[in-house]
Amino acid sequence: MMGSITARYFCYGCLFTSAAWTVLLFIYFNFSEVTQPVKNVPIKGSGPHGPFPKKFYPRFTRGPGRVLESQFKANRIDGVTDGEDPAKGSLQFSELGKRAGAPPGELLSAWRSAALSFAGMIFSERDQELRDLGYQKHAFNVLVSNRLGYHRDVPDTRAAECRDKAYPEGLPVASVVICFYNEALSALLRTVHSVLDRTPARLLRELVLVDDDSDFDDLKGELDEYVQKYLPGKVKVIRNTKREGLIRGRMIGAAHATGDVLVFLDSHCEVNVMWLQPLLAAIREDPRTVVCPVIDIISADTLTYSSSPVVRGGFNWGLHFKWDLVPLSELGGPEGATAPIKSPTMAGGLFAMDRRYFNELGQYDSGMDIWGGENLEISFRVASAQRGALTAFASEQIWMCGGKLFIIPCSRVGHIFRKRRPYGSPEGQDTMTHNSLRLAHVWLDEYKEQYFSLRPDLRTKSYGNVSERVELRRRLGCRSFKWYLDNVYPEMQVSGPNAKPQQPIFINRGPKRPKVRRRGRVSGALHPACTTGLSPAAGTAGAWLAAQARVVSAASALQLYHLQTGKCLAAQGRPSQKGGLVVLKSCDTGDPGQIWAYNEEHELVLNGLLCLDMSETRSSDPPRLMKCHGSGGSQQWTFGKSHRLYQVSAGQCLQAVDPLSRSSYVTMAICDGSSAQQWHLQG
Ligand SMILES: *[C@@H]1O[C@H](CO)[C@@H](O)[C@H](O)[C@H]1NC(C)=O
Repeated sequence: MMGSITARYFCYGCLFTSAAWTVLLFIYFNFSEVTQPVKNVPIKGSGPHGPFPKKFYPRFTRGPGRVLESQFKANRIDGVTDGEDPAKGSLQFSELGKRAGAPPGELLSAWRSAALSFAGMIFSERDQELRDLGYQKHAFNVLVSNRLGYHRDVPDTRAAECRDKAYPEGLPVASVVICFYNEALSALLRTVHSVLDRTPARLLRELVLVDDDSDFDDLKGELDEYVQKYLPGKVKVIRNTKREGLIRGRMIGAAHATGDVLVFLDSHCEVNVMWLQPLLAAIREDPRTVVCPVIDIISADTLTYSSSPVVRGGFNWGLHFKWDLVPLSELGGPEGATAPIKSPTMAGGLFAMDRRYFNELGQYDSGMDIWGGENLEISFRVASAQRGALTAFASEQIWMCGGKLFIIPCSRVGHIFRKRRPYGSPEGQDTMTHNSLRLAHVWLDEYKEQYFSLRPDLRTKSYGNVSERVELRRRLGCRSFKWYLDNVYPEMQVSGPNAKPQQPIFINRGPKRPKVRRRGRVSGALHPACTTGLSPAAGTAGAWLAAQARVVSAASALQLYHLQTGKCLAAQGRPSQKGGLVVLKSCDTGDPGQIWAYNEEHELVLNGLLCLDMSETRSSDPPRLMKCHGSGGSQQWTFGKSHRLYQVSAGQCLQAVDPLSRSSYVTMAICDGSSAQQWHLQG
């Protein structure tokens, strides 16, 4: 009896497994099939106020708070269930995945990244328009974002030790506050669903969405309808009637929150597995701890989720946030890779703190506008506040020093790092400067000279009334900025009369300090009004590590042969010329300008030096030779069906311009499988 049941289940298992694999393979090949376009979720309207198609709901929806980690949430393959009821299609698919048991992890993840690298493929003029408009409005690939849907699995990027860590019962309950302004609806809802999917319901009091008077229609009625229908109960939407900006927007969100802990997130994030427990555990241990997750990188071009190195926050005298390597002294404690890391400042986009503490500590400076500087302000305030000054915590005087700021390596949240801020402040004012001035006048004491020596034009600039903030600083009994520099950020260099004797600095990768990377205007690294703080600098931290790990294999000397013309792709000028164009030339294996390597990162490297690169925002530009950046996207090329050469971030294929005339130019075009688009790598 037992035996026959076992045998029957074994057979069912085999059946489901083979069915699942058939579907996987079918989908994989369909994804790269030009003639069978992937049906994408349409982007809203063609203008900022355009009508929004009703069909924007995800194909299957789960109730909030149900954690289905092992379930294969394959929304992105919605499109291939063409002609069927899409809801049914996806659900069946995910059921299949669940019952069959996960296919071997490696294969599955390879399949996923293959599928994802084709998710940006442009099949029609309409796709092209969606993509270009999406970049314009949101500065990331909205075409891919819409195709992904609202649920997806992300790779667990935590260190192995984190997976074994247990968290105590009785963790405080969190309210997640997300302020958004003109966000892409698919990115916002993926943020919301990632929180609901990967947070135990008992730890989540509510999600407060603050709409900072966005302009796009779909963020109004569509969003309300969606929340009412699919997310009743836990999600509150607050509407600002005028543009307040991130800083006041978050204060408004916090006022509506009722949980013990406030968790602030940007509106284009995806939280990872077990992201909240480590944050709550640290706050439970000491309510005066402000904690940040490690911010993983979601590519703006491909939405690929990748791990970020553990770095900590610093700043420079331009009062821009930057990432620093973690000093050796902070590493190697008994807790190993799971230990919280002290951080002098935070990026500001994603953090959690006790709600009472947030209020006691004076929330944010409401005199700061829209965006910028608030993250340093709250960092300085936390770090220099004295213990005894806070009445709510008078009974917990066992701690020796003030508030603390930690990065918690076991908590990871992915964030889309955009290339620029797609919108400005209401009157186009430079809010970063205004806010930094307030910061300098309230917190920097004599060290504000460091700032003014870099920005002498600001010495006499007005910054509004800061008397309340100065009074707050006095009331909290905060320590001096000198104390902060000496004790919290001794690595900071000070010049002029306040200079301190130079101490040797030891960091975990050789004796050199990491290059100063700035947020804000300087690097063009800008942020949306109602989101923050997270600069591409963080992305750069990832690219930096990727570059360290990257091996450009120049060993393989290949030629990129154009089948129709019998010519080879070559540098127009010198092969080492940055920004140079590529053209078709008669094949010549002795010409260093046509010797390519194609490496594991899917880069096409010319003569072991420069990478073939596509401008991220303008797909009408021809590809150029640029320095290899190692973070995929604009330098990621894939050889697909019918010899085409597909560019992941442009979503287009490389094509010879007018190959029948004698023109030697190449361009990017919609992938149509024509002979002008056929290439072959040959050794
Ligand atoms: C600044 O604000 C405080 C209280 O908010 C007020 O008492 C003071 O008069 C103001 N100062 C100026 C110059 O307006």
